[in-house]
Amino acid sequence: MKKDLQYLKKLFSRPFHAKRAGGQTNRNYIVAVGRKKFFVRLPWESHVMDRRAEGRNILALSRNKKIRCIVPKYYLYVLSRKNILNPKGKTSYDLPDGTMMVEYLWGKEFPASFFQQKRYQRALAKTLYLFHTSGVRFSNSYNPFRDEIKKYRMEAFRRPVQKLLDKKTIAQLQTLETQAHRCLLSSKRGVSTHNDVILQNFLLGKKGTTYLLDFEYAGLNTKGGIFYDLGYPLRDSFFNPPQISKKTFERFLIEADAVYKKKLDRNQIYWSVIAALLVGIWWGVLRFFDAPKREQPYFSRYVQRGVKGLLALAAELKKKES
Ligand SMILES: Nc1ncnc2c1ncn2[C@@H]1O[C@H](COP(=O)(O)OP(=O)(O)O)[C@@H](O)[C@H]1O
Ligand SMILES: [Mg+2]
Repeated sequence: MKKDLQYLKKLFSRPFHAKRAGGQTNRNYIVAVGRKKFFVRLPWESHVMDRRAEGRNILALSRNKKIRCIVPKYYLYVLSRKNILNPKGKTSYDLPDGTMMVEYLWGKEFPASFFQQKRYQRALAKTLYLFHTSGVRFSNSYNPFRDEIKKYRMEAFRRPVQKLLDKKTIAQLQTLETQAHRCLLSSKRGVSTHNDVILQNFLLGKKGTTYLLDFEYAGLNTKGGIFYDLGYPLRDSFFNPPQISKKTFERFLIEADAVYKKKLDRNQIYWSVIAALLVGIWWGVLRFFDAPKREQPYFSRYVQRGVKGLLALAAELKKKES
């Protein structure tokens, strides 16, 4: 916190009041300066994140007119001491790459129980539709198999994986990985997707606006495209209960069909959920081994939930296909 305050002081010349905000990975602050409020993200300083790609994506978002009503105004994104959102600016920022300052949005988090309600299902679908049709073009390609599953799986095999997953389960995971890879449509050019469509990354604004936040994992999806985003809330609910029931999710998809003005390909959506579950499972395995002992039960449960959900969903898909 002390270090963070030092960082914040470099951003504001006037006196300010900072309050810690929530979030999964970064250190976020709500900063009040006079009557104005800002949301500042101090980045999780990790070599895994490609801040250059994220910075270029934020620049693309900030320049896109169509998306303006569902994202905050972006004021600052630091890369190599420069605010890349103001290329002509001369100020040098002695702050880590990925430090970001955006408009503070008045609103509340999206409660999981709202996902069952038709009007919120439609609001979510509308926000995703606006983003998917905005024409915003991200800078990095994103293939969940290449960039996540395979990477994590290979890394996991350097650890005693059998402690967490038995042989049969490992074989099932690999079969499903091959099947999902085969079933998901590929696109060379890629489609701009968010890739972390969890309910905590939406914000319900005052006038019914549903904002989309946190483009940390965004990229040009080459496997699954928009279906990857559409399936993501279901995927996340396996890891972080309450689990969304199949019936509720199907109702959400009917709303999404209406918003996208076409019947969305269920097969692609469910195979995307499978791929996204595999991402989470292998990520969880790695986290299990790298976490301090007291946090291991959490990741063990996380992985078991993912596996259970994955196998149940895969069995259902198979039943439908036969
Ligand atoms: N511009 C904003 N205005 C108000 N609240 C925000 C804003 N951006 C994010 N939040 C809140 O802070 C939480 C964490 O922000 P997020 O960007 O998702 O960080 P993380 O990458 O750490 O998850 C969000 O879930 C949301 O509730
Ligand atoms: Mg987030």
